[in-house]
Amino acid sequence: MKQDTLLLIKPNSTKKNQIGEILQIVEKNGFTIERLKMFEMDSDLADAFYVEHLSKGFYEELSEFMRSGRIVAAMLNREEAVAKLRELVGDTDSTKAALGTIRAMYGKSKGENAVHASDSIKSAKREIELIFK
Ligand code: PPS
Repeated sequence: MKQDTLLLIKPNSTKKNQIGEILQIVEKNGFTIERLKMFEMDSDLADAFYVEHLSKGFYEELSEFMRSGRIVAAMLNREEAVAKLRELVGDTDSTKAALGTIRAMYGKSKGENAVHASDSIKSAKREIELIFK
């Protein structure tokens, strides 16, 4: 079944001018870019987006990083988009991500992992609404 999912290209990648390369990989893997937006996160949006991580020890680091520069959001569509995008981006920790995945190529750690990808259909709906509202 065709689905929508959300990809965020994080500040470390936009700073390194990797937006085009990452979007090209996504398109070459069968995703259609339905919506695209460049923006900066403020602390309210970071709190809402990462609400499930608010109480975690790493949250301040995560919020600070996501507020450190421009982000590109892409709403992507294809068959089984949520699972296929998670597969394409690789493990959250870039040092453990499989060869050929986006995080292995562009990320450097668990925090600076180049991109975010929605982890379920429910999260995708919530995150798309939050970013593109
Ligand atoms: S958890 O605790 O297993 O649910 O967390 P995890 O799924 O591994 O990571 C969730 C998001 O938090 C980011 N993260 C961090 N950011 C900064 N510093 C540290 N130490 C850190 N650890 C985890 C991680 O990049 C995930 O962000 P997204 O946007 O989902 O990739």
